Amino acid sequence: MSSPIAPPVRALELLGSYEAGWSLPQPFYVDDEFYALDVEHVLVPSWLFVTHDCEVPNPGDWVRIDLFEDSIIVVRGNDGEVRSFFNTCRHRGSIVCLDQAGHSRKLVCPYHKWTYNLDGSFAGARYLPDDFEAELFGLSPVHCETIGGYVFVCLADDAPDISAFAGAAEPFLAPHGLQDVKVAHTETIIEHANWKLVMENNRECYHCGHAHPELMQTIDEFDGPGSSRHNDKFLAILEKKLTGWNSDGIVHEQTTEGGLEWRLVRIPFTNDGVAMTIDGLPASNKILGTLRESQRDLGSVRMLHFPNTWNHVQSDHVVSFSLLPLGADETKLTTRWLVHRDAVQGVDYDLDHLTKVWVATNGQDRILVENNHRGIGSRGYRPGPYAPGIETGTADFTSWYTTMLHKGLTG
Ligand code: FES
Ligand SMILES: [Fe+2]
Repeated sequence: MSSPIAPPVRALELLGSYEAGWSLPQPFYVDDEFYALDVEHVLVPSWLFVTHDCEVPNPGDWVRIDLFEDSIIVVRGNDGEVRSFFNTCRHRGSIVCLDQAGHSRKLVCPYHKWTYNLDGSFAGARYLPDDFEAELFGLSPVHCETIGGYVFVCLADDAPDISAFAGAAEPFLAPHGLQDVKVAHTETIIEHANWKLVMENNRECYHCGHAHPELMQTIDEFDGPGSSRHNDKFLAILEKKLTGWNSDGIVHEQTTEGGLEWRLVRIPFTNDGVAMTIDGLPASNKILGTLRESQRDLGSVRMLHFPNTWNHVQSDHVVSFSLLPLGADETKLTTRWLVHRDAVQGVDYDLDHLTKVWVATNGQDRILVENNHRGIGSRGYRPGPYAPGIETGTADFTSWYTTMLHKGLTG
């Protein structure tokens, strides 16, 4: 039964008494009206990672992405630029691109065949008056930025400035040559859990030791940036790797200018691993970008950008994650494995070796967050405290979220 108090008022009341470092009150995770507040005040005003530019490699290539009540397309124009538009016809509003991906010289609405150029401008239609002002009827643009091969979009009228993130990401990603990669595999899973629980779960490794045997082959549960609990073994690995990286000019130091919203840091693997595989061995023979064979041992660039992406950019492959909320209790998580575009499956890489760790880890995490969501729906749920030193990233996320929502509700 919904409350007689308006959702924005209830949300502000709960935010007023929310104690940082604790999980959120129940409605933030399960209430449809609170989810609508998330969409309006947190998700729409944010930059969202939706695809890689290598998924639209040629002019005329496009992908469709459905976000909340919107559908958008990301398309590469004849000038090579990647742009995004609302996938809504300027005639009477039909969806223009019905498939999930395609290649077209022009974008043609299936309803009455209004036609658009790849840059979104109106290209033609039948039976229009002589004084039809074509320049007023281009597809509505969506803010779109390509950063090191990652395509971010923002649905808001006024997008926040993303230039500081772009500037910080560039030196981390440049040696990995993400302009010369391809998607070797994509996994899309629907998690029956609120999107914030998917992100909260990703931000901590409190559960890793007992839940993720595959992942723990190459990472340490206390290897998070700034962790106060680094053990001696990990500190020794860190010291050795940083010396090599520094002499090679490999960027690794954790960024700070992104505040709670984003950060980049390079972290070494444990157990002498050079890639996030089950045995720590390279997943692909073809090293990425400008790297040399002697530079296989680069750990991973952990690139985080709230609210929807975390990444492991490695010397021979990349694992990217794009979280897209579908409702209060449903979240789509798309994982992509990228390798050098010249790498040949079965010759340079084995798909099972490449994907095994994160296919297993995603499956384990899905069960954890679905159980978390199920338990939060109970009358017995009360917010609980995040553990100091190991759930810091989770506390950071909920602090970012509550600040963003408060700002949106009071702005
Ligand atoms: S709605 Fe697209 S052509 Fe009519
Ligand atoms: Fe996990």
